[in-house]
Amino acid sequence: MSEPIRFYFRGAVQEIHDAAPTRTVLQHLREDLHCTGTKEGCAEGDCGACTVVVGSLNASGQLEMKAVNSCIQFAPTLDGKALFTVEDMQQPDGALHPVQQAMVECHGSQCGFCTPGFVMSLWGMYLRRDDNPDGKPAQRKEIDDCLSGNLCRCTGYRPIIDAAHRMTELPKVEFDREELTRQLQALQRDAGATYIARGRSFHAPRTLDELVALRAAHPQATLLAGSTDIGLWVTKQMRELGDIIYLGHVTALQSVQQKDGMLEIGAGVSLNNAYAALWELYPAQLGEMWQRFASLPIRNAGTLGGNVANGSPIGDSMPWMIALGSEVVLQGPSGQRVLALEAFYLDYQKKDMQADEFVAAVRVPLPRANVQFRTYKLAKRFDQDISAVCAAFAFTLDGDKVVDARIAFGGMAATPRRAPRAEAALTGLGWNETNLRVAMDLLQQDFAPLSDMRASSNYRMQTAQNLLRRFWLETRADAPLAADAVNAFACRA
Ligand code: FAD
Ligand code: FES
Ligand code: FES
Repeated sequence: MSEPIRFYFRGAVQEIHDAAPTRTVLQHLREDLHCTGTKEGCAEGDCGACTVVVGSLNASGQLEMKAVNSCIQFAPTLDGKALFTVEDMQQPDGALHPVQQAMVECHGSQCGFCTPGFVMSLWGMYLRRDDNPDGKPAQRKEIDDCLSGNLCRCTGYRPIIDAAHRMTELPKVEFDREELTRQLQALQRDAGATYIARGRSFHAPRTLDELVALRAAHPQATLLAGSTDIGLWVTKQMRELGDIIYLGHVTALQSVQQKDGMLEIGAGVSLNNAYAALWELYPAQLGEMWQRFASLPIRNAGTLGGNVANGSPIGDSMPWMIALGSEVVLQGPSGQRVLALEAFYLDYQKKDMQADEFVAAVRVPLPRANVQFRTYKLAKRFDQDISAVCAAFAFTLDGDKVVDARIAFGGMAATPRRAPRAEAALTGLGWNETNLRVAMDLLQQDFAPLSDMRASSNYRMQTAQNLLRRFWLETRADAPLAADAVNAFACRA
């Protein structure tokens, strides 16, 4: 039997009964509800014109308010959540919200097409500042991060950044979190539900057992997590997804815990929450990767489990996870099995995962003494860009001797992969320039990268070699450059 999708919208519960399971939130807003404040620019999560804020209760029952790209989220994922758009910013007396007022005062809008998206991203930040009422004005880094998923081609950003400062100086508008929490509690379901429309099913299990049973019963169904890859299959490739199993309501996939020397991150944990937990362990190494992974709205929706399961050769998490010796936990009807992450990737888009299995979690080793670890991303833009080359190195050193060398790259082969010849040339030997040069040369035997719109084969090989050299410059016994100084240099390059 089909259950309607119910979500909180404009102060009431809204139901969806017959929209296709892959109808996007943006299509539903503009074409079904005729709320046209939210705009479509790219329909692929890049420009931010479609940004909305979604409120939901997390696994602990706490309210989370997150900016996401409505163009690549499917409407049935709204079940049990609340949807806020630029129209919600208008105050009961008709006045503008401080975010909008600040945009007006600072001349942050010119053609205006991008403006609703900016307003919603800024509102997301406005609400987060309630969580940290330290009284300090917004920092530039926080503002840049908040706006990393919004493109504007008219104003040049400075007025918008001014508005981000200005909005906190205007009289505050409170948001009633308690009331929204109550509304959302009333919308929660005790068990999984299936929504059926236009001949397709959207299954939304709540427990791991329900998910295992559904996967076994529907091995051809598409597993949907944050939709930041899958959304584009529909909006750009016009693919027909068939039936869908949505993982977003399975609370057992939301946990982050330390056990057996590893940080275990459930497959349903958002990229932003996963990287926040990982950053606690590896602040110097993963801070920049966290910030440069897509944009805040993409990280709010996308999951680390989805990044690993998708396994793109140019995905950003796999090289550093493989270099550190991370594992993937697969679950199926006969229980769990654990694989070294590098063994999960068999060939381009081919993984060691059975049709009735899914990724339940990933495990990342905790920091270990004497292990030097770095990861570097090369892309054409600082924010919101996929890597041309992504490199990661984790070396166990004993003085200036390499006890163990783990080198992994993205963008160099059909899968994220280690560099066996270069590793072998360093293991057991001195961490010095002579051996480094040999290993750099051997990368040419380990990889034959392709040329595409992101980079040429030559560029990829040369930068891969140079990144290994950079790792040596940062970690050799007499390294003159602090990691931060090198990072700052690299970002400009
Ligand atoms: P989904 O899109 O829901 O699913 C992706 C794939 O994984 C599907 O095949 C799905 O069936 C499968 N899957 C998901 N969860 C599971 C599971 N638990 N078990 C088995 N299979 C599963 N990626 C980067 O690496 N770096 C970037 O900088 C980056 N920038 C991006 C920028 C934009 C604008 C966009 C749209 C995407 C970007 N991506 C980037 C890609 C994407 O955000 C990531 O790959 C993300 O981690 C995917 O997670 P998801 O939860 O959205 O997966
Ligand atoms: Fe461009 Fe959604 S329309 S991000
Ligand atoms: Fe024109 Fe932003 S004001 S694109």
